[in-house]
Amino acid sequence: MSSEAFFDIAFLWYQHSYAVYEQKGVEIMELHITCIPGDGIGPEIVAEAKKVLVKIASVYGHKMVFEDILMGGASIDAYGVPLTDEAVAKAKAADAVLMGSIGGDTTTSPWYKLPPNLRPEAGLLGIRKALNLFANLRPAVLYDELAGACPLKEEISGQGFDLLIMRELTGGLYFGERKTIEENGVLKAIDTLTYDENEIRRIAVKGFDIARKRRGKVTSVDKANVLDSSRLWRKVVEEVAKDYPEVTLEHMLVDNCAMQLVKDPAQFDVILTENMFGDILSDEASMVTGSIGMLASASLNDSKFGLYEPSHGSAPDIAGKDIANPIATVLSAAMMLRYSFDLDREADAVEAAVKQVLKEGFRTGDIMSEGCKRVGCSEMGDLLVSRINRL
Ligand code: IPM
Ligand code: MG
Repeated sequence: MSSEAFFDIAFLWYQHSYAVYEQKGVEIMELHITCIPGDGIGPEIVAEAKKVLVKIASVYGHKMVFEDILMGGASIDAYGVPLTDEAVAKAKAADAVLMGSIGGDTTTSPWYKLPPNLRPEAGLLGIRKALNLFANLRPAVLYDELAGACPLKEEISGQGFDLLIMRELTGGLYFGERKTIEENGVLKAIDTLTYDENEIRRIAVKGFDIARKRRGKVTSVDKANVLDSSRLWRKVVEEVAKDYPEVTLEHMLVDNCAMQLVKDPAQFDVILTENMFGDILSDEASMVTGSIGMLASASLNDSKFGLYEPSHGSAPDIAGKDIANPIATVLSAAMMLRYSFDLDREADAVEAAVKQVLKEGFRTGDIMSEGCKRVGCSEMGDLLVSRINRL
């Protein structure tokens, strides 16, 4: 069959299914998703997440329209800058953004010979700011099937854990004024950590809102024994807490939190914290689950719009080898369905497929354990697609 004929038939079939769904009164959504494949393993893992979304669309009768933009190293190579205004405009015009990962090997990649504001990470910080994505949700869940990969002692991991880090994403040290100067022949670098009460309030509200839908506990993490910004953080969080009598609030110093995450992660429900602490604690939280390759994230603004990306980086050492774990990106796509589109059933279907594939013993290299079947990135994607069912 010619490809034209094939597409005609596919289109007719699509129209037919569309009509059938409309008749059944099922809500059909046309979703415009801007994708940022990015660098390293990014393009491979985004390709698998797209496959999963296409399957969800066909099972539930939605329409997904994808458009790719460049960011990070890929954008530097094409345009000389890590993020263009056109790319930002396309991201803004979409219903949501799905991202892989950006950046390369910081010691060998030529991108890191450029001034800091032209390096790949500047693209990521730029898009977070441009889209006002101030709330970063990073869930860390210990899957029963992967309990063996958890580096904690069994007496600790045996209890399981399911926590969520609510990280402030557009303020603090990441966006404060910074410079390097020379004073009396001595180099001096200055980074500033600033938060105003409105920035703290809006992220605290997000933290309490989500805690209310989970197990009703917020652990607000700061360094109030040293930092003014943390003392203001604590004050504002306490004010917000008054509107949520059903949520328990506790404060924890960040160094203690780092310790508690390995000592007793089950004590946490929602960890609410500022940008830099959240960056560090979320890597730690993901590691205690056994594989950072499993952890999704959502970065939201004050409406339903969000950018969804795995919590892990671009892993340039394994890029292009078809061995990366696409699950974190697939689970990020599930978060997109849930948070940006209110498609809870569809999100559940994706998460159920992940659990099913793990239950059947399929593993990518990063989560491999004895007796399991090792698969590559695209094979994992195919398995997930084939296990998606209408719930
Ligand atoms: C993350 C990353 C980024 C951050 C880097 C790549 C700028 O580590 O999303 O956690 O520090 O926010
Ligand atoms: Mg990080």
